[in-house]
Order: sequence, then structure tokens, then C-alpha cells
Amino acid sequence: MSLLEVEHLRIWEGRTGDVLVPDSSFRLSKGQCLAIVGESGSGKSLTCKALMRLNRPFIRQSGRVALYGIDLATLSAKEMRPYRGKRMCMIMQNGMRAFDPSRPVGAYLLEVLSLHYDWSRSEMIASLSTAMISVGLQEPSAVMGRYPHELSGGMLQRVMIALAIVLEPDVIIADEPTTALDAVTQYEVVERFVQLRGRIGSAILFVSHDLGVVRRIADDMLVMKNGVIVERGKTSDILADASHPYSRYLVSSKDALRNHYLQLMGGTDVAEG
Ligand SMILES: Nc1ncnc2c1ncn2[C@@H]1O[C@H](COP(=O)(O)OP(=O)(O)O)[C@@H](O)[C@H]1O
Ligand SMILES: [Mg+2]
Repeated sequence: MSLLEVEHLRIWEGRTGDVLVPDSSFRLSKGQCLAIVGESGSGKSLTCKALMRLNRPFIRQSGRVALYGIDLATLSAKEMRPYRGKRMCMIMQNGMRAFDPSRPVGAYLLEVLSLHYDWSRSEMIASLSTAMISVGLQEPSAVMGRYPHELSGGMLQRVMIALAIVLEPDVIIADEPTTALDAVTQYEVVERFVQLRGRIGSAILFVSHDLGVVRRIADDMLVMKNGVIVERGKTSDILADASHPYSRYLVSSKDALRNHYLQLMGGTDVAEG
């Protein structure tokens, strides 16, 4: 049995009836990293949010999303609570929307941790601080004291990644978690994901524009275009020899980025391309 099974996921705009994702199916097994790539507007974020039922109310969905064989649609809001955070944790593309604007980010982080762990306040702060430093947030207590609007998008993303590191979720859904970061921080953050996966075996659904990052982290990938999965397979196979013209286009147009990233990685096969 797969850890996460998505079958015939359909997503549409409830008011207009516009179909945004007609029929997607994929699986994620324990410890696997599956990337979703595709140009802007192809339905990657809608798909991620649908898995956790985090789309806005007028965005409707049908199909089966099952974690450990349990169809999440059958759970009440209360029953869903332990699934969000500890079992499935999402790093949203737009960090600002993930936080409560009326409170400092630290208050939110401590509340989430207290739902899942029986730790004292100082234990929670210590764990968060270590995780924040590991993703390049040098002054954890200052960051925790800030309101979301006082932090940049990249900092908020890193705060979410730090929270995921502490939560050690079974499934991490990371929606373009490195796009707002500079190249060096991006490298560090990707390494944290790789480590997290190695250490606790989290499965990762990783949305990215950057095929260099995808190649580093993902075993398998899905290519989306206009809401449809047009190609799927092993990352190495698709990057070496994509069969769909759109994947071939993506692979060729991202060569420059990939080489740049590989240089940062210490020069492994920079000569290629
Ligand atoms: N709240 C919304 N209401 C209506 N359409 C939306 C909404 N959010 C996204 N869409 C549409 O769905 C498509 C996919 O969006 P999204 O999943 O955000 O793309 P991606 O993450 O791949 O860039 C886009 O064409 C977008 O216009
Ligand atoms: Mg998106």
C-alpha cells in the first residue's frame, strides 16, 4: 500500500464550473520524493492544496486522496487535525497566507507544536531555534517575535521548513519551497530536505521550477501542463530522454539553471550540457 494515494483528483471553480485539474492520479510511497514540474498556471499549487483540503471554498474537488489507506474526505474537520502538521505538512508557496496575520510567527509555531508534542515551551523554542538556524535564519528569537508581514516571503518559507523539520512529518508537501531564496540559501534548504528524508524517511512531494533541484532531490517526477499530467517517470529517465514534447522543452530550457545549481553542488557533472 502506498503512503499517499491520489485517484482521479478533479478540481474546478465552483462558481464558473471551469475545470482546472480534470483527472489526476499518482502515488507516493514511504520515503519517496516525487517532484511536480510545469510552467506557472499548470495546476501544481491547486493539486498540493487539494491534498490537504486547503483550497479556497469556491475551489471544489472530487476524487480520492488517501493517507495510509484512509480517505481523507471521510474525516471530519476535527479528525483531520492530527493529519495536518504531523502526518502531512505543507510548505506553501505563498508564506503570508500560511500564517495568522494577527500574531507573531512564534505564537503560531508554538501552537502548532503543542498540538503534536507534549513539550514544555522552552523545549519547543529550543527545537525551533535549532531548526531555524539550520535553514539559515540566524536570529530565531527575533524572527519568532515578528509578525508575518514583517518578514520576507523567503523568510516565511524558511520558517515553514523549520517547522517541518521539527514536526518530522510522514509526508511533506513542498510547493516551490526554494523559489524566493537566493542560490546559496536554496542550496542549504535543499540539503535540509535531503537530510530530513534520510533521517526520518519523510515522503516528499516537491514542486519546483528548477530541474537542477529536482534532479538532486526527486526519485520520480510528474510533468504538468494545463492541469494535466503529461509525463511521469523516473527523474533520471525524464531528464535524460523526455518523451513528451513539453517535457523536452522544459528540460532544454532549464539547462542553464541546472548547470548553475550543479556548480553550487560542488561541480558534479557540470561539464554536461
Ligand atoms: N482561486 C482561484 N480561482 C480561480 N482560478 C484559479 C484559482 N487559483 C488558481 N486558479 C487557476 O488554476 C490554474 C492553476 O493554478 P495553480 O495551481 O496556482 O498553478 P501553478 O501552481 O502550477 O502555477 C491557473 O490557471 C489559475 O488561473
Ligand atoms: Mg504554484
